[in-house]
Amino acid sequence: MNGRTLLTSLPMAVKRSELPARRSARWLGPRDVFGFIHRAALRSEGLSTKAITDRPVIGVCSSWSELVNCNLHLRGLTEAIKRGVWQAGGLPLEFPTISLGENLMKPTTMLYRNLMSMDVEETIRSNPLDAVVLLGACDKTVPAQLMGAVSVDVPAIVFTGGPMQPGCFRGKRLGTGTDLWRYTDDLRAGRMTPPEYAELEAAATPSTGHCSEMGTASTMACITEALGIALPGTAAIPAVNARRAAAAEETGRRAVELAEEGLRPSSIITVEALENAITVLAAIAGSTNAILHLIAIAGRLGLELPLQRFDDIARKTPVLTNVQPAGELLFEDIDRAGGVPALLHELGSLLHLDAPTVTGHTMRETVAAAVNHDRDVIRTLADPHKPAGGLAVLRGSLAPEGAVIKTSAASPALLNHRGRAIVFDDIEDVIARIDDPLLPVDPSSVLVLRNAGPLGAPGMPEWGMLPIPQKLLAQGVTDMVRVSDARMSGTGYGTVVLHATPESAVGGPLHAVCDGDEIELDLESRRIDLCVPAEEIQRRLAEKPLPERRYQRGYGAIYLDHVLQADAGVDFDILRRRPDEKAEDEPYGLLEGWVTGW
Ligand code: FES
Repeated sequence: MNGRTLLTSLPMAVKRSELPARRSARWLGPRDVFGFIHRAALRSEGLSTKAITDRPVIGVCSSWSELVNCNLHLRGLTEAIKRGVWQAGGLPLEFPTISLGENLMKPTTMLYRNLMSMDVEETIRSNPLDAVVLLGACDKTVPAQLMGAVSVDVPAIVFTGGPMQPGCFRGKRLGTGTDLWRYTDDLRAGRMTPPEYAELEAAATPSTGHCSEMGTASTMACITEALGIALPGTAAIPAVNARRAAAAEETGRRAVELAEEGLRPSSIITVEALENAITVLAAIAGSTNAILHLIAIAGRLGLELPLQRFDDIARKTPVLTNVQPAGELLFEDIDRAGGVPALLHELGSLLHLDAPTVTGHTMRETVAAAVNHDRDVIRTLADPHKPAGGLAVLRGSLAPEGAVIKTSAASPALLNHRGRAIVFDDIEDVIARIDDPLLPVDPSSVLVLRNAGPLGAPGMPEWGMLPIPQKLLAQGVTDMVRVSDARMSGTGYGTVVLHATPESAVGGPLHAVCDGDEIELDLESRRIDLCVPAEEIQRRLAEKPLPERRYQRGYGAIYLDHVLQADAGVDFDILRRRPDEKAEDEPYGLLEGWVTGW
């Protein structure tokens, strides 16, 4: 077949304004020099004219990277998604974005979540895509992709990578992070030897896939199903299970239908869907990081999602799943019990069942079709794993705009506690002094970390689960009240108050705490207070200079200029959408009409 034959098989010349609604046709349809360039670009990839015209173009947005061990299998899943796209009559085009790996990236992936979301948004907007499959796994990759996709609001469906095969240490399955923290405390307390710790390292991560317990990645995977933006039953399938590739194929097929139906994320991720996601977050005792991500996703859609809504919903939602760190099992057990649909089935009456989903059906149909195969893994509302209130939003003189605590992974005896502060000015101060035998700490002390918030660190790292001082570990102390403006890994646990807002670096009350001040945590009244007169707090804040700005150039400087506080999801002010503002999927520069009519 020569070039002339290919050209004559193109559609009749039409003006771009007369082209069908399919987005890609605006690039690939016109008989002008620009259409020529667009088609020729794809033909250089070995695609025939038949493959690039008259079919929806599906982007496969992959966060595969050798810098992100949790996402290493995504290349194989991309092939399965593309298979599904071809089967359904679409043209799949895979594209990379930056990727965010929790383990290697410093100071924290959260510093780069918004950057990745901008990469995703702009790549979708600027290319001939009719729908996109968002393929991510490690903690921040999924929210970043969602934030980007809802910002441009082209039809989208999420497919997550699934949990890794759990490590096995001395006959016990390992929670990737939760057991790491426990055994690290054992090492520091002298209950484990360095050779045993090395043995643990060799056993901890036997495969690709995301963390094996209810960390942030598992939480966000559950949330994509609860939002209705992923196919039901896909979240918990293990990364290395063949069913995951089959589910990827099905997701690819559905993406083609979404392109034809024009079903946009803004039609699926409504306030009701966000509330369903919060209900699931509470029922799985999920990661507190999801609070930030959901607020940010809502903000990109022009929707208000106040922090208080999380507390309101958590108060009436019991914890149903028995998964680490708030339970004993692992995320793969959820799959065995019937996956997220089985959880949704048990939550039934607490959900907005009329919420639309990416399947084209409502949440009601997902719930009706699901069966819970193991009520030791997913309990019922009548017989929950833990009572309602597994996470809580606190306010008080130490966090006037809010703080959060995962009560389901805390010590009940510490949830109403008053103790004297031991203050660490930053994470380097923690490393330097936490195990100092002279540190004036006892089990009733409250450990305080400041300068670890969105601007302070910067990037709000997962430093909030401050280590228990070694001398107390040796006495058998396993938990203390800790307060910071930092985040905590979803795999973490303990009586840890996080996201104190406003943060210390912008002059929040954490900035004024002194060693020996009393701090009171009162869960019942949802209070976290610095027990110092308000005038004294103001006097200290007025006298104490704020830390210096860390970044003067590059992305770091852009981040510092635009990042918002935790109660706004740590998003950039310039990326949130006004309630009356429509998403813009039309790129500038899509020209038409030059050299036409051949
Ligand atoms: Fe990537 Fe936990 S480190 S999912």
